[in-house]
Parts: sequence; structure tokens; C-alpha cells
Amino acid sequence: MPTEQYAIRPAQIGDLNHLLSIEHDSFTTDLLNRRQMRYLLIKAKACCLLIEFQGDIVGYGICLTPKLPRPARLYSLAVRQEYRGKGFARALIEAFKDYLNCNNYKYWQLEVDTNNHSAQKLYKDSGFELKARLPGYYENGCDALRMICVLITAEEV
Ligand SMILES: CC(C)(COP(=O)(O)OP(=O)(O)OC[C@H]1O[C@@H](n2cnc3c(N)ncnc32)[C@H](O)[C@@H]1OP(=O)(O)O)[C@@H](O)C(=O)NCCC(=O)NCCS
Repeated sequence: MPTEQYAIRPAQIGDLNHLLSIEHDSFTTDLLNRRQMRYLLIKAKACCLLIEFQGDIVGYGICLTPKLPRPARLYSLAVRQEYRGKGFARALIEAFKDYLNCNNYKYWQLEVDTNNHSAQKLYKDSGFELKARLPGYYENGCDALRMICVLITAEEV
């Protein structure tokens, strides 16, 4: 994917409808509703990034950033179906890593559905390792895997 063709920027409240549309396009359970997404965008201690490609918002991610030394948490990550497999999720993950490194987070973690093999591969390739299995974690009763990734902080570079 030619890097000059995509741009990653912080998501703003004006992007709310686009993010909800991607969310509905991407998840069948545990969807963020408008109120929750709005809270994440404007009030939560979080880093919300989106990726634009040829003028369209094609994906987004939300990473919760609690007070150190608690780990950051990748809370949501989704790419619109027709844009998958082009490296957009990987680009978002790299952007989050840069942000977290600059802000001295030592770890970030996430939960992923045990059946979501494409996301698990993405996370393993990005440095996440299995930490725990969480039975019945999702609203539909599916189990989750908690994965954790060690970050290199700005102080260590
Ligand atoms: C998971 C998701 C975010 C990946 O987005 P994407 O932009 O297609 O991913 P990328 O193109 O950046 O792929 C990066 C890596 O992910 C893995 N991957 C992505 N799609 C895959 C697939 N269909 N099968 C296997 N591995 C896959 C691969 O390791 C890939 O690297 P490679 O191309 O070098 O093999 C996207 O499929 C999605 O939005 N799914 C629905 C929502 C979701 O499940 N989010 C994660 C919740 S934890």
C-alpha cells in the first residue's frame, strides 16, 4: 500500500457517524452505541485514531490510556469490510505504538474473540502474547483471549 495514499489522524466528534457506521459494519456483538462512542471521543482518557484513504474514513481504533503505570488497552479496532487486507489495521496499530511509546506506556493489552483468527494473527504479528482466556466475556457468550504487548518507552530509546 503506497503510504502517501493514506493518512492517520485523531478522531473528532464530527467523525462520530463514520465511526458508528464502521462499528456496525464490523461487529455483531458488544457494539459500541452512539452514547458510548461519543463518550470515548470527547470525555474518556483515550487515544482515538482513524485512517483515511482516498478521501474516505476506512478504519478506526480506540486505545484507553489510563494513568501510568497501568497498561493501555486497545478497546476497539475495525476496518470497513471492503478495505480489509490492505494493511490499514496494521498501520493503525503502528500509530498507536508510536503514541504509547511517546507517552511512556510499558504495556498495552486487548481482548479478542477466540474465534477471531484474523485479528489474533494481526495482534501476534504485532507483538502481542496470550495472557489469559476469559470465559463468556462477550454478550453472545463467546470466550475472549486477553493479549499483552511490551512496549519500548521513549526513555529507553
Ligand atoms: C481485524 C481487522 C481490524 C484487520 O484489518 P485489516 O485492515 O484487514 O488488517 P491488515 O490488512 O492490516 O492485516 C494485517 C495482518 O492481519 C492479519 N489478517 C488480516 N486479515 C486476515 C485474514 N482474513 N486472515 C488471516 N489473517 C489476517 C494478517 O496477519 C495481516 O498481515 P499480512 O497481510 O502481512 O498477512 C479487520 O478484519 C476487521 O475490522 N474485522 C472486524 C472487526 C474486528 O474483528 N476487530 C478486531 C476486534 S479485537
